This record gives sequence, C-alpha cells and structure tokens, in this order.
Amino acid sequence: MYDVNEIRKDFPILGELINGKPNTFLDTAASAQKPRQVIEKMNEVYFGQYANVHRGSYYLSEQATAEYENARRIVADFINAALEKEIVFTRNATESINLVAACWGRKNLKPGDEVLISEAEHHANLVPWQMLRDELGFTLKIFKMGDDGSYIHEEFLHNLTDKTKLVSVTGMSNILGTVLPVKEITAAAHAKGALVLVDACQMIVHQKVDVRDIGCDFLAFSGHKTYGPSGIGVLYGRYEILDSMPPYQFGGDMVDTVSYQHTTFEEPPARFEAGTPAIVQAVGLGRALRYMSDLGMDNIEAHEVELVKYTNERLKEVKGLKVIGNAENKGGVFSFNVEGIHPQDLAFILDKEGVSVRTGHHCAEPLVHRMGFESVARASLGLYSTKEDIDNFVKALNKAVTFF
Ligand code: ALA
Repeated sequence: MYDVNEIRKDFPILGELINGKPNTFLDTAASAQKPRQVIEKMNEVYFGQYANVHRGSYYLSEQATAEYENARRIVADFINAALEKEIVFTRNATESINLVAACWGRKNLKPGDEVLISEAEHHANLVPWQMLRDELGFTLKIFKMGDDGSYIHEEFLHNLTDKTKLVSVTGMSNILGTVLPVKEITAAAHAKGALVLVDACQMIVHQKVDVRDIGCDFLAFSGHKTYGPSGIGVLYGRYEILDSMPPYQFGGDMVDTVSYQHTTFEEPPARFEAGTPAIVQAVGLGRALRYMSDLGMDNIEAHEVELVKYTNERLKEVKGLKVIGNAENKGGVFSFNVEGIHPQDLAFILDKEGVSVRTGHHCAEPLVHRMGFESVARASLGLYSTKEDIDNFVKALNKAVTFF
C-alpha cells in the first residue's frame, strides 16, 4: 500500500513552511527533494567510512571503495544492466551525453552520416550534437512532435534512414511530459543499423527502466532527479561499445601503465572516470535508487498516473489556463500559461502562497518556441506529491487570476 503521507515524513523539507504557507513543492522535474535515508547514508560515509577510492590498501579506503562499487551494483540492478562495468559514473546526464558525443561520436561520425533527435530534446541532448556536427560535418536531423506534444511514430520513421548512425532521444520530455516509446524506437533504429541513446532523466523516476528490455545502447540520467544528490550522474553503455571508445578525460585512475613517453588505459568503466570521483554522491545515488525500489517503481508510477489525472481535471477550473503538452501517454509534468499573466509574475504570486514552480524555457528553448511560447510556467510532480499539493496549487492560481 502506497501511503504518501507516511512517505512524506521521509522528506523533512516538505514539512517546512515557505513564506508562512505549507510547502507545495512542484519543481521535482528540475531537482527532486532528498529523503532522510539518502542524507543519513551520505553522512554515515563521511563520519565513518571516508577515504579516496581504488587507491589505498588500508581499512577506510577499502570501506569507501566497497561502498562506491556497491553503488555501481545498485545502479546496474536498478536499470537491469547485464554487467556492473556497463555503468560509468559521471557528473550528471549532461556529462554522460557529452561523453558519448566526444568518445563515440568523434570516432564514428563523418560527413554523410546522420544523427536523429526529436524536437522535444533538452539542450543537453541537442547542443552536443550541434557542436559535433559543426566539427565533423555530419547531418543532424530533428523529427517533429505533434502540436499537442505527442510522439508521432511515422514522423520518426520518416526521418530514420540507412545513413542514420545514432538516434538520441528523451524517454520523457521535461516540458511536454510526453513519454516516448523507446523500445519501439530502438527496434526501428537497430533495424537500420543505428545505435540508440536514451536521455532517461525524467523517465527514470516515472517508470521502471530496463535497458535490456529497451535494447538501447546508451542511457543517461542524473542523481539529483532520482532523489539522490547532485554532482553524480550515470552513463549506461553496452560493454562492447564502451570498450571500443577512447577515453574522455585523462588523469589518475583511468590509466593502466604510464611512462614519460606513453600511456595505456584501463578498461571501462575506469577508463571514463578520470580523477577522484564523486565518491559519497555515488553512494547517495545508490541509496536513493534503493529507496525507490523499496517503494516499488510500479507503485510510484501508479501514484503519479492517478495524480496526473487529478491535476488535469483540476487545472480545467482555472480561467485562461492552457496546458502545453497533452499527449495521452504523459508523466507528471505540466507546462502551462495563463492568459494575460507573464509566467514570471505568476510564479512570484504562487511563491507567496508557498507553491514552487519553474518558469522560462526549461533548458529546451527551441521546443518552447515550437509550441508557440517565449516562456512557460511548469509544475512537476514527485513520488511525494499529493492531491493537497494540487489543491493548494489551483487555489493559488485562482488567486493570481483574480489579482490580474
Ligand atoms: N532539466 C531540468 C528541468 O527540466 C533542470 O528543469
């Protein structure tokens, strides 16, 4: 039984007053709040198990190394990777995608090749490919989303060709909420001989992600959106592909032998983890994924589905409010505009009522423009969100409408 009020007790920050009002936190898509289990686990390591990893043959270093590598095991299990060594720790999903662009892309892409992405990509899955295109001269193709924000398989297929070398798509749009059928996309891409990268930043907290079921070649996500700390991210890569890639950065821990003249490199994942990694953050991420697994991803998804339905209904009550992104298969992300009120003014009034929403282009500027806006407000749900949060939100929106 999913008892959201019990779950909220794990998140002390949700009990704080914001501007004297109950904390109605509706910006989980930007960064999720952290349960005390994650904070306590990180403290435990700092208080009693901390040292550098992979370097010391003494007790504390061995403890820290065991915790760090255990986190890798937890991540591998969480996404059902075949091997732990398919998990590379990075700073965040942005770095994970940049790593693929720099290491796989620079080695494998040439003029005449095509990289295919969707209109719904976050800047992190658009700009690295633009930059690499400018450097290498391949073609970057972008398939259209529907006017209502839905994914259109025919559009994707229409843009997928024998020249496509990589399809890089979001699993769930951070603006539209649209969930893309990444398994179907992967099968079609593979049939054309293209590799597939999934930006799973939003999808990973929305539903169970199984990389072997999806069949993708790469998958990226960030720790801070999975109820873990910031400063840690994950790149999953199929081992033989990771093993074919040159290193990303150079330094300690990623080398095999070094002389003044020549260096050989470690196997993945060490090859891609140069320097001292984010040790305690990795452990915190592992604890956060365990937290979600203990709740059950199916239960988390069912809770979100119910709340999405409720939110959709309640938002209809707000005069002049338009939701941007109404795909049938949609997660807990509501971008919206209220006629006659600038999103920033709206957010200011909501904040006074204790309601936190994000405004702007949400790191997907071309998509906001394509949907016909300069800027939008966005409310997003987390595993701790409640119907009361939505009631507070709607009440604050109605107050803003009356005010303007
Ligand atoms: N990508 C994050 C968001 O959607 C920061 O807000």
